Amino acid sequence: MIHFENITKVFDAKSKETKALDDVSLHVKKGTIFGVIGYSGAGKSTLVRMANLLEKPTTGKVYFKGTDLTTLSMSKLQEARRNMGMIFQSFNLLKTGTVYENIANPLKLTGVPKKEIQARVAKYLEIVGLQDKANAYPAKLSGGQKQRVAIARALAHEPEVLLCDEATSALDPDTTDAILSLLDRINQELGITILLITHEMNVVQNICHEVAVMDNGRIIEQGKVIDVFAQPKTKTAKRFVQSLFNDSVPEQLVNSLEGSGQIVTLSFVGESSGKPALAMVTKQFDVYPSILSGNIAQLKDQPFGRLVVHLQGNATETQKAISYLIELGVIVEGYKKGGKQHVS
Ligand SMILES: Nc1ncnc2c1ncn2[C@@H]1O[C@H](COP(=O)(O)OP(=O)(O)O)[C@@H](O)[C@H]1O
Ligand SMILES: [Mg+2]
Repeated sequence: MIHFENITKVFDAKSKETKALDDVSLHVKKGTIFGVIGYSGAGKSTLVRMANLLEKPTTGKVYFKGTDLTTLSMSKLQEARRNMGMIFQSFNLLKTGTVYENIANPLKLTGVPKKEIQARVAKYLEIVGLQDKANAYPAKLSGGQKQRVAIARALAHEPEVLLCDEATSALDPDTTDAILSLLDRINQELGITILLITHEMNVVQNICHEVAVMDNGRIIEQGKVIDVFAQPKTKTAKRFVQSLFNDSVPEQLVNSLEGSGQIVTLSFVGESSGKPALAMVTKQFDVYPSILSGNIAQLKDQPFGRLVVHLQGNATETQKAISYLIELGVIVEGYKKGGKQHVS
């Protein structure tokens, strides 16, 4: 649906060059929710603005439904842009207009007939759950309600893609969850492809199918959300996962256990998450596991669990137990103070 190919973007400001995007390639498939996560300044907003060419690449190509947007005339580009709705952290509502006018005015500008406008405003206000707010002014709405209006305004153009720039970053946790489930429903029921950027891992955890991690203008990691969660490779991705799973164990406890068996981190994904793996280890080997820390999270499609476990037993038996866990599909890593280490 959206395909970025070797995009580089250099900003020239006050004789200082900033490379905001550095050879970025990314493919957002039709029907997916694709998340781009990174810290402030990573280049996320620049990237999402490339999707509809609000920002032009210094080098590289942007394809939308197979067409290279950089080659289009202004009128064709406008047409393509209408097919991509956009929402922002700051909602960008017109303060002097009612909810109805905020949604209807942009439609008027693109020549949608009056009857059709009325029908669409009603339809999309209902989808976002604000049927009764058509005549309210933005100042009377909560943050979550404002974002719902912005979403209805974007949907009213009946786009195939929704671009979201930190859409939930100004909202409290409960409102964030409500907006995320709305976006998920929009994706499933209306079939709209969503490209969202965020600095919050729980956004990725809750609704994304795929994720790309950005750092310093580059994509340093990308894949299915479950894979990046289970085995983040880069330091930045590890920090993002760590922000949801704090599995550090008090150092004193770790020290007191050293020399008797082994401390490991176990990640349970998909099928392995349903098996009583530790109970089976105790039954089959001369190994006694004790759990030092544990987390379980619901990703979009499946649960993901992580335990830090002390396996008490002699070297041969613990090694056998580890091999057995790996056979069951559990990801086993050695626990290292302040980080993790691969053992398998
Ligand atoms: N219009 C601009 N002019 C100059 N520099 C810019 C401009 N827009 C963004 N930048 C710079 O590009 C880098 C990436 O910015 P941005 O895409 O906004 O990052 P993010 O959204 O991840 O916080 C930053 O160093 C920022 O200062
Ligand atoms: Mg930004």
